[in-house]
Amino acid sequence: MTATTTPEELASPLIGQAPPSPAGPARDGIDHLRRPPEIPLSPTRQTLRFSVRQIEFVFGARRRLGEVFRMRTRVVEGGTVVTSHPDHVKSLFTADPAQAPSLTGESPLRPIVGPNSTLTALGERHMRQRKLLLPSFHGEAVARYTTMIEDAAAREINRWPVGEPFALAPRMQAITLDVIMAGIFGIEGRPEPGTPEYRLRQVIRQLVLLSTLPIAQVAELLNAGSDEAVGPTKIALGYLDRATYAVVRKRRAAADLEERTDILSLLLQATDEDGTPMTDHELRDELLTLVLAGHETTANSLAWTFERLVRTPDAYDRLRAAVRDDDEREAVIEATIHEGMRSRPVIPVIGRRVTVPWQLGEYGIEADTPVLMSILLVHHREDVYPDPFAFRPERFLHRKPGTYEWIPFGGGIRRCLGATLAMAEQRVVLEAVARHTDLVADDPAPERAVHRNVTMIPSRGARVIVRARHA
Ligand code: HEM
Repeated sequence: MTATTTPEELASPLIGQAPPSPAGPARDGIDHLRRPPEIPLSPTRQTLRFSVRQIEFVFGARRRLGEVFRMRTRVVEGGTVVTSHPDHVKSLFTADPAQAPSLTGESPLRPIVGPNSTLTALGERHMRQRKLLLPSFHGEAVARYTTMIEDAAAREINRWPVGEPFALAPRMQAITLDVIMAGIFGIEGRPEPGTPEYRLRQVIRQLVLLSTLPIAQVAELLNAGSDEAVGPTKIALGYLDRATYAVVRKRRAAADLEERTDILSLLLQATDEDGTPMTDHELRDELLTLVLAGHETTANSLAWTFERLVRTPDAYDRLRAAVRDDDEREAVIEATIHEGMRSRPVIPVIGRRVTVPWQLGEYGIEADTPVLMSILLVHHREDVYPDPFAFRPERFLHRKPGTYEWIPFGGGIRRCLGATLAMAEQRVVLEAVARHTDLVADDPAPERAVHRNVTMIPSRGARVIVRARHA
């Protein structure tokens, strides 16, 4: 089977366009515009449904109320508006940041990573942190990791049992955790037992495992809206903080600090404009953000793509043929990742708070309203992606995804800082697994999506069986 795009495919409506919809700051006010329709459920029920069954909840609301609606939860006073139109997304991504600051500072992550990290900070501080980190995540910096990612993937694949079902997500996480530990702490391969880095890796793995337990959902709800972690999250964070500070202390004292290129060493040497270095607390927030934002997301994105592939034989066969064909390899791998991230975006929703009255299509939104962009709903628009529930990588073959139609990494000045690294990891791992294993689903039924912290992950961790392994 050839992977070159056929004239029929190029002409076929695999990708379409949404009809234009005016959006942006409402200079003439919003009195002449209607308010978005509301979900007719109590705030408590909406909070629970959004936390536990976000997919059914948002698809149901869009079916009944249209592409813009208001939900009321117990967490956000006054309600939140949800949209899924690319023009509305564009208006928020390209807005003056003072008029549409990110909502990540108010997210369930804030009690964990604190208010000072690139993810949670706003305004000047955010731009400063982002500028500091950007060079470490550029194409050239990421290219340095390719061999390391290949080695981590090969090591991992060789350990997989043949003929027995197992969950891919934790296996992918072992790879992405190695990659992120290398990038951030400069540790190549697995750290030596007994070192602070080893302890930190262990604590992170345990915490991630713990966060799959049902108690974690309760902890998440308990923490929502609060400034500091409470309950089980607080106890767990105590372990993590001790392990992180031990690594920071060790590195601060390292004789070769100035020659090192890992992110921790760069941050340790960075100062703000009046020459003040980052405090240990600020460092901890930044490091934790990168570790948490950077490995579970990528691992689950890969797990989802395989969950889809093993249930879509055409797409899987095409990928496996392409990894052996130099002409088609890159294009098919890229298209498969794009379609995986479209159909199962690991982060299903992102938000901005409009600080001035805003227009979203026919609706007017009051100043100081949180607006969520449902990535999941944008990615399942029938007009943009015909047959949106089908997994069809050929949609993206030799086509770049639209900036405001394909938004798994968000956008604008808050676009995911690790997107280049995440794409590189996915390319390398997808290819290695497609080349070296024959996978089948352990059960033909698709896995449900469940929510963990801010992510949407496969309910059984993307369980597969390796039928054969190839050298
Ligand atoms: C497939 C994997 C990943 C996905 C789906 C993902 C998704 C996202 C999304 C949706 C945002 C919010 C964007 C917005 O509000 O517009 C974000 C922000 C961020 N991500 Fe990722 N991410 C991934 C991997 C990574 C990696 C590997 C790292 C770092 C090592 C990382 C670090 C960050 C940081 C620091 C931010 C905050 C950026 C800012 O606010 O300026 N992410 N990511």
